[in-house]
Amino acid sequence: MTDRDADKRLAADAAVREIRDDMLVGLGTGSTAAYAIAALAERRLRIETVATSEASAALARSLGLIVRDFADVARVDVAIDGADAIDGVLRAVKGAGGAMLREKVVATAADRMIVIADGSKRAERLGATKLPIEILPFARRFVIDRLAPWFVHCEERPDYRTDNGHIVVDGYGWDDGAPEALASALMAIPGVVGHGLFLTEIDAAYIADNGIVTRLER
Ligand code: 5RP
Repeated sequence: MTDRDADKRLAADAAVREIRDDMLVGLGTGSTAAYAIAALAERRLRIETVATSEASAALARSLGLIVRDFADVARVDVAIDGADAIDGVLRAVKGAGGAMLREKVVATAADRMIVIADGSKRAERLGATKLPIEILPFARRFVIDRLAPWFVHCEERPDYRTDNGHIVVDGYGWDDGAPEALASALMAIPGVVGHGLFLTEIDAAYIADNGIVTRLER
């Protein structure tokens, strides 16, 4: 295990210690979230879960966790998920793994949303991280054209579909001076169904740096 993996696991273990019997837990997506799923399964709590991706649902079920269909769920107790970048006031960029839309739905449904990360994800400025945007395939060319003013350049992920059947365009080089304005502008483009800016959803973060875990609270 690399030092970075060890840190992901430490952050995941710290977050999982918040989970109690009878909770409904939102499972994130990605390598750090996978450590949380494994830690949850290991603790053998009396919990149910919902997953933010087919991959996380499959992993959780393979480890013996109960995974409910989120379509039948209105609220979640705690969601635990990774991030691609997180700043000091708990704003994050997510979606390198393409699950940002379901992740945002589950994070918003959660009473408490916890991000877990290794220290490489700490960011002074979010704009240095590519911003994934989930797009209705029907609107592909139109949306990419409308995104142009907001990014230095955009790249569509080749041969890629999200679990929702949508395409993803990654936006590089964006102005993070007013991320709320960018988030609103993106959602105002018909055909954009989601994006990886998480500005208000995150309540806490456990970030592990070389074996030391720091907790941030909103
Ligand atoms: C997936 C995500 C992931 O949480 C994010 O990409 C971090 O992944 P990892 O823990 O593998 O670095 O947002 O859509």
